[in-house]
Amino acid sequence: MIPKETVELIHQTAVIEDVIGDYVDLKKQGSSFRGMSPFTNEKTPSFYVVPSKGIFKCFSSGKGGSLATFLMEQEKVSYPEALKILARRYNIEIEEREQTPEEIVASTERESLGAITSWAQKWLTDNLLNTDVGKAVGLSYFKKRGFRDEIIEKFQVGFSPEGWDLFTNAALSAGYAEDRLVATGLSSKSQKNGKLFDFFRGRVMFPIRDVTGRVIGFGGRTLKTEKKIAKYFNSPESPLYDKSRALYGIHLAKPLISKEDMCFLVEGYTDVMAMHQSGVENVVSSSGTALTIPQTHLIRRFTKNVTVLFDGDRAGVTAALRGIDILLKEGMNVKVVTFPDGDDPDSYSKKVSSSEFQKFIKEDARDFLAFKSDFLSEEAGENPQKRSELVHSIVESIACVPDAIQRSVYIQATAARIKLPEDLLQAEVAKEIQKRLLKAAKRSAQPRTTPSGSLSSGPAPSAPLPGTEYPTHDVSEDLAPGIPARVRTKRDMLEDAIVKLLLEHGEVLVNVEIESEQPEDGATDAENKVGSAPTSFTEVPFAELLVHRIETHNLEMENESTNYILSRYKQSLDAGTLPSSQSFFTDTSPEIQSRAANMLVNKYSLSDNWANKHHIFSILEEDVLEQALSSATTRLLLFDVQRNIDTVITALSLKGISDAEVNRLLREKIKLDRIVKDLNLALGVVILPK
Ligand code: CTP
Ligand code: MN
Repeated sequence: MIPKETVELIHQTAVIEDVIGDYVDLKKQGSSFRGMSPFTNEKTPSFYVVPSKGIFKCFSSGKGGSLATFLMEQEKVSYPEALKILARRYNIEIEEREQTPEEIVASTERESLGAITSWAQKWLTDNLLNTDVGKAVGLSYFKKRGFRDEIIEKFQVGFSPEGWDLFTNAALSAGYAEDRLVATGLSSKSQKNGKLFDFFRGRVMFPIRDVTGRVIGFGGRTLKTEKKIAKYFNSPESPLYDKSRALYGIHLAKPLISKEDMCFLVEGYTDVMAMHQSGVENVVSSSGTALTIPQTHLIRRFTKNVTVLFDGDRAGVTAALRGIDILLKEGMNVKVVTFPDGDDPDSYSKKVSSSEFQKFIKEDARDFLAFKSDFLSEEAGENPQKRSELVHSIVESIACVPDAIQRSVYIQATAARIKLPEDLLQAEVAKEIQKRLLKAAKRSAQPRTTPSGSLSSGPAPSAPLPGTEYPTHDVSEDLAPGIPARVRTKRDMLEDAIVKLLLEHGEVLVNVEIESEQPEDGATDAENKVGSAPTSFTEVPFAELLVHRIETHNLEMENESTNYILSRYKQSLDAGTLPSSQSFFTDTSPEIQSRAANMLVNKYSLSDNWANKHHIFSILEEDVLEQALSSATTRLLLFDVQRNIDTVITALSLKGISDAEVNRLLREKIKLDRIVKDLNLALGVVILPK
């Protein structure tokens, strides 16, 4: 965790127009800057930077937020990473001292292991290029396989010499500690005499890097042909090397995946290298294992489109097919390319020219489900048992597709392919989805959570006080830039209307009636009525009225960031002030920053422009605000009542409920219908009789 004060310092120091100016050609326009959106190919500039508020807004893509949000989008980094980029630029030292003792241990451990793996990579590469054995055995191997010098250099491959402890001794002499060497997996301890020896011996070495380019582990290929020896050895897992998150080649592929908006997925290290040699650089490898969810998320940071390159043999394809569903589940568009029998991307690329290779992977790419249907149909032939397995396997894949429209397109296309009536396939998919929902419901039924998440539920001994910590999960993990943490609901939007009023007009002074104080004691009712006649008015910020209204109406907000923003206001109002808009850009989550920015930008940049250009003035009169507030709260109430009605209707349609229960539910529904009518009346909505 970066300490709050440091985050604040970064936000105060960074000059938003300078940093964004590196990416966008900005022209000054009044108090803001304007330029072409870096996110779309627009023809007229609709990208604004508002320095006074520290925010940007892009009207062609709808993106907006703080400087950190911009960097997250542009550099495809997490929130903490964006802050670190800014800190480096402005020479702000980040001492991550708010970490728990365990976190500090873990991060220094990773750093010390990272120092060893990076040193080891240099030693292994040096061995390959500059020793006699390395050149004769390792380098000549790569050359024989047709890898050119620039590719060997680009991937910084290496060679681990035969012998017992050449690497280990070199590392010890360089000052690295025994237990650290063992922790990286590069050295092992002999059970017999307790001495260290090299884990990799007589192998060509492929350094594996994380997305930032740091070496986290190695794959080592044997040069022997004996079947007994495992072809590849890989570094064991360590605090530095988490196999489920690693993707070979990601640090090189990153910018190209974004640019091409597509990622090739291959099986092996040499496939990645060979693709680069053929001029295709948006490629990563899962290193021979099935793709994991964290790996899928890593790819999703850059693109939704994946093309999987399969080895040609049928056994390989059957195995690989199973791993693809995970991509569908994440809403990815998946295509497949298969190579002629016996070839993998590496061997095929060496048989044809670069342009032929590029043409092949482009033109042979087929939609995954179409490919799977055809492939399995061919396997099954007319065998009824196999045909039913085929249908089941296809149904499982289609059920993974989260988008309903896309799903039905797939059902239509696939039914024809596997010669099954469409409605039958449709029904099977529906059944499968229901089965999964039920399973998921059962799983989540155990620890009960609130509808909007898990914040307020469960025993949380060290839960942050409301308003002291931003209410979100670890943003670095799953808040991929540009992808909202979850789908925004209709209720979120209704809550937005309230937050918008608060942020845009919170400081406007409005007149409110104050009740005269109740006599302490001894006063009779009669005296009371006489004594409390004069009402008085006072001016308060509109925010005060709004917060008060929400409390008296018992309106519950479901969105975590809405609750956070409200709690910020409550806190400040209690202390007799208003929160500054800047305070929503410092220690808050990107989601809150983005929401706040989207709302503030209307107020500060555009209303200026519009007012000047079109002589449109926003009306800030009290009664307009009062009206807007009533309508926003009424709509929220209406939504909740409507939701209750839906629940009642569902309950009515359940099988086997008693007559008494039906009567009770019907009475409940009539009551709710009446409330809806009243609320609509309040909103000025006329409901025509049916
Ligand atoms: N792999 C592994 N351990 C093995 C075999 C394979 O970790 N014993 C992983 C490696 O990451 C390898 C990938 O699976 O790159 C694909 O395996 P394979 O197709 O057998 O190897 P290739 O990459 O084609 O290697 P080469 O071309 O050198 O034979
Ligand atoms: Mn190969």
